[in-house]
Amino acid sequence: MSPAPAPLAPPVPVLVAPMAGGPSTPELVAAVAGAGGSGYLSGGNLTPEALADQIARTRELTDRPFGVNLFWYEPAEPAARAAVQEYAELLAPELAALDVTAPELDWEDLDRASEKLDLLLSDPVAEVSFTFGLPGPEVVERLHAAGTAVAATVADHHAARCAATQGVDRLCVQGAEAGGHRGTLTTGEEPNRLTTTQLVQQVVRALGPTAPVPLITAAGGVTDRAEVEALLTAGAESVQVGTLFLLTDEAGTSTAHAAALQDPEITETVVTRAFSGRPARGLRSRFVAAHDAHAPAAYPTVNQLTRPLRTAAARAGDHHRVSAWAGTGWRQARPGPAAGVVEALTPTPAPGRPSGSR
Ligand SMILES: Cc1cc2nc3c(=O)[nH]c(=O)nc-3n(C[C@H](O)[C@H](O)[C@H](O)COP(=O)(O)O)c2cc1C
Repeated sequence: MSPAPAPLAPPVPVLVAPMAGGPSTPELVAAVAGAGGSGYLSGGNLTPEALADQIARTRELTDRPFGVNLFWYEPAEPAARAAVQEYAELLAPELAALDVTAPELDWEDLDRASEKLDLLLSDPVAEVSFTFGLPGPEVVERLHAAGTAVAATVADHHAARCAATQGVDRLCVQGAEAGGHRGTLTTGEEPNRLTTTQLVQQVVRALGPTAPVPLITAAGGVTDRAEVEALLTAGAESVQVGTLFLLTDEAGTSTAHAAALQDPEITETVVTRAFSGRPARGLRSRFVAAHDAHAPAAYPTVNQLTRPLRTAAARAGDHHRVSAWAGTGWRQARPGPAAGVVEALTPTPAPGRPSGSR
């Protein structure tokens, strides 16, 4: 077995979350790294070529180590075909409203994840994190041999134990407050409602004293320094933050998504399958309110079905028809430099980390 390479361990224990669909940019990762944190580019929904470009650009902007996140899932369940067809019929007026035609669905789509893994094996980054599924011991071993640490996103303590036995170096423990998709291991399961703090405590208990224990990164609903400190006390080594960075200058969040985040008439976030077929937390827009109850558990086919609608809505500035993923702390997201977010979250003093080592 190859020795496990060191996972990301920036001076400030704040990792910017991978955020597919635009928000993640090389500029955002570099800005957070420059402020003493670290984080991930999002490889999900990108072509391998686009991911390679983003990695190259990030290296131009920073010499600090960073990670890449991949979507890692099983093919869509063919049994869901009828339900997806019914949902497509229900959504037809939404598509018609923006003059878009229903797309052909690809039931074999795996997000070209194995090609992106090959890219990362031939041109390694510091860490690769996986979501929607666990990488398995063989992939972990190949990444370790390439000099790359491995993180797995988990949303319950069973998944945490399973990932630990596969030899991952970090568990991204994602609580119910988290924006974006829940890191459940199957499309059909309903995620639990444990808060990030409760889940971190449960995972720490479930892992017990067995060595080697992966690092724990807490994700979900982090909006201030006191929450970071509480999560570190609960057993996390770092926090992974998404929503708070969505409106920052360096994020690539679409204008429509940003408008949804700042619309005073949108008053809550909910976990919904309406846009993608997988449970994800986002703003309760008119689209979500109308279709949440009818959306089938079918990923990525429902995601494919709504893609042209979301693209047209983003172009038209229709913020009720874009998937405005956001965590429960969305009201705290503000425009400004990403470094300001890192500074506001930095524990005083950063526990267990050398100061001034950026
Ligand atoms: C807009 C958006 C997109 C996201 N995309 C991804 C992704 O591509 N991969 C992933 O592992 N997590 C993704 N997440 C979830 C984050 O990794 C993280 O769990 C979450 O942002 C933490 O909660 P917070 O948003 O309350 O900070 C996304 C979150 C948001 C808000």
